[in-house]
Amino acid sequence: MYSTIVFSVEDHTAVITINRPDKLNALNHTVIEELSEALDTIAEDDNIRSVMITGAGEKAFVAGADISELVTLESWQGQDLARKGQQFVFDKIENSTKPIVAAVNGFALGGGCELALACHFIIASKNAKFGQPEVNLGLIPGYGGTQRLTQLVGRNKAMELLMTGDMIDAQEAMELGIVNKVVDADKLIEEINNVLRKLNSKSRTALAKIIECVNHFDHTQEGYDFEIAKFGECFGTKDMIEGTSAFLEKRKPKFD
Ligand code: COA
Repeated sequence: MYSTIVFSVEDHTAVITINRPDKLNALNHTVIEELSEALDTIAEDDNIRSVMITGAGEKAFVAGADISELVTLESWQGQDLARKGQQFVFDKIENSTKPIVAAVNGFALGGGCELALACHFIIASKNAKFGQPEVNLGLIPGYGGTQRLTQLVGRNKAMELLMTGDMIDAQEAMELGIVNKVVDADKLIEEINNVLRKLNSKSRTALAKIIECVNHFDHTQEGYDFEIAKFGECFGTKDMIEGTSAFLEKRKPKFD
């Protein structure tokens, strides 16, 4: 039924595994569409009480949006990509009435970091790495990263992570409040299943209202829309063409 994700349900928990390990589970057009479909199924299926999102293989959760799909886009197409991704995947995750936990099992970069940030909380393996390296491509995050990261870690740390594009390890991500818990890689799924079993025994109504109230805290749509517009403005610029081409040609970018 799906070609880029694996979807399964066991003991009232749905597991979505992004399954492009040869491309470090990068989010291409099909992954976004299939995630959207899976999230709709989860919302409609009363048998499902909670969700885990993870990446296939041992190396990556998700290493970002698929750069090979970005390289030729024009500004309006960049905006369209960000708006659809936010609307059909990232907002659906954040506003899901069922708890969604990210099992971060390796690189969570760019759109991968944003995917984890949209989940209700994050449990990471010791080898996980987080970062928003879009700046190295002459780009900025477009799936809500400028907003959710700033909300979680505060303005100055967000500025640093977004401007340097540096990766941080799971321990530092936990100290910053991005990650809830760090565990050995071979214990990650077991640990999350324990948490989800606990959540599956709670009141669905209460969980849904907790999610709604916490999300209500101070998310303004304006910030996300602003990010979409600025993300779109990067497309077609010399810097973005140089940054994305350099990645695909496996060389260092040279920005003016
Ligand atoms: N989009 C498209 N392809 C990607 C990708 C992405 N975001 N991230 C990794 N890949 C692909 C690589 O091109 C490579 O494909 P190939 O084997 O066909 O050449 C494959 O996944 C393995 O990645 P590779 O770069 O060889 O692994 P590595 O261990 O040397 O480096 C990373 C790992 C994560 C540091 C590196 O892949 C990387 O920097 N990825 C991009 C991160 C990024 O900028 N994300 C934001 C995108 S907006």
